[in-house]
Amino acid sequence: MLKVTGLKKSFGKTEVLKGVDLNINPGEILVVVGPSGGGKTTLLRCVNALEKADDGNIIINGESLCSNGKYADKNDLKSIRKNIGLVFQSYNLFPHMSVLENIIEAPQKVLGVDKELAIKKANEILGFLGLEDKNDSYPFELSGGQKQRVAIGRALALDPKLMCFDEPTSALDPSLTDGLAKLIKTLGKDGMAMLIITHDMEFAKKVADKIFSMDKGLLKEGLIFEKN
Ligand SMILES: Nc1ncnc2c1ncn2[C@@H]1O[C@H](COP(=O)(O)OP(=O)(O)OP(=O)(O)O)[C@@H](O)[C@H]1O
Ligand SMILES: [Mg+2]
Repeated sequence: MLKVTGLKKSFGKTEVLKGVDLNINPGEILVVVGPSGGGKTTLLRCVNALEKADDGNIIINGESLCSNGKYADKNDLKSIRKNIGLVFQSYNLFPHMSVLENIIEAPQKVLGVDKELAIKKANEILGFLGLEDKNDSYPFELSGGQKQRVAIGRALALDPKLMCFDEPTSALDPSLTDGLAKLIKTLGKDGMAMLIITHDMEFAKKVADKIFSMDKGLLKEGLIFEKN
């Protein structure tokens, strides 16, 4: 579902990604841990073309997003990115839109789904996320965990084959973290591939099929940290 090889990225003179390789199969949950500043968020942003890598290859669902540091052209980029859902640490919900409106926005705008169908799908997702009574609430009326589930719902509404999470548990208490772990496991069983960045080792152990450590711009399987 996702294959990354030799990915490199520098900001000025700082080399943040030094040749990252990774592979995620359908339904596989890959968790990346590692020290602050190690390049985890940068990796996620490069995979989503929010940041452009300098070199290396990214293949998503068999299509080349980035080849030797050259990203696909605008139209191809758009269609390849439809396969990816992204949930950031700060949920970025639209504050002036209700929960339902937040979820039906992208399917209509990005996929051209008609409104009725988008609402039907959104209601299914809200039910699945245990938010069926929150359709008409606004983000400011929700708890951190509820906002986060809406953000997940918004990503799921696009039927992604690959979901990326950056620090999904940072605003959650332990019981919500458990709930999220179960949700992620369920999505994985349904065949969705997942790339999850976290500092939360308990959470990582609960959800991961594979754990990788990102340190000094390199990704290694297992919990390996090089000494300074
Ligand atoms: N837009 C940018 N411009 C310049 N430097 C950047 C930019 N984004 C990230 N960096 C630098 O790249 C390095 C890696 O940052 P990144 O956010 O990927 O780390 P991280 O592993 O996600 O850390 P954390 O665990 O704290 O979230 C840091 O040294 C950071 O300062
Ligand atoms: Mg980060």
